[in-house]
Amino acid sequence: MVKAPKKTKPSSSPSVGKVPKKGGAIVAQESGSRNAPIINIGIERQDRAAIAEGLSRVLADTYTLYLTTHNFHWNVTGPHFNSLHAMFMTQYTELWGSTDVLAERIRALGHYAPGSYAEFSKIATVPDVPQNPPKAMEMVRILVKGHETVSRIAREFIPVAEEAGDDPTADMLTARCTVHDQTAWMLRSLLED
Ligand SMILES: [Fe+2]
Repeated sequence: MVKAPKKTKPSSSPSVGKVPKKGGAIVAQESGSRNAPIINIGIERQDRAAIAEGLSRVLADTYTLYLTTHNFHWNVTGPHFNSLHAMFMTQYTELWGSTDVLAERIRALGHYAPGSYAEFSKIATVPDVPQNPPKAMEMVRILVKGHETVSRIAREFIPVAEEAGDDPTADMLTARCTVHDQTAWMLRSLLED
């Protein structure tokens, strides 16, 4: 007797709805009220949840990198003080502005945006600011790694948004990758001979 072949799952998209979580942290709590109509923007509820999870991680990492950069703006020392102090200000200002855009996209998808140190520390991949201010070039090295990390996390979620038909989020994350890759290059150039 010939055994019937095992049923295999249809090869659906590997990423949509399966957002990798860091340490099983639950983020992106759904918002809403009985008085408001159910959100109906053409993106499935579970896809909106998956995208909000991804955006929450990018937000947590962006905020952590923002704080690190602002800290370094305050605490940098040495012969390159002037140029690094000014460069870090440009960078933290850009990062600060982007946190608002990311958080408000999470809200537009019907979820609450994380916004506390407790939540950010649970879901961020970028490490917290060092306790003792490092030497100037070590600060630059830390920021290169930070920008590269945020870029990797954002890039990971672009297909999740694309496959759900969420072009605004995919575009937003693409723009974030452009900024982080460029900033990492500029910082890395300071370390090259
Ligand atoms: Fe300042």
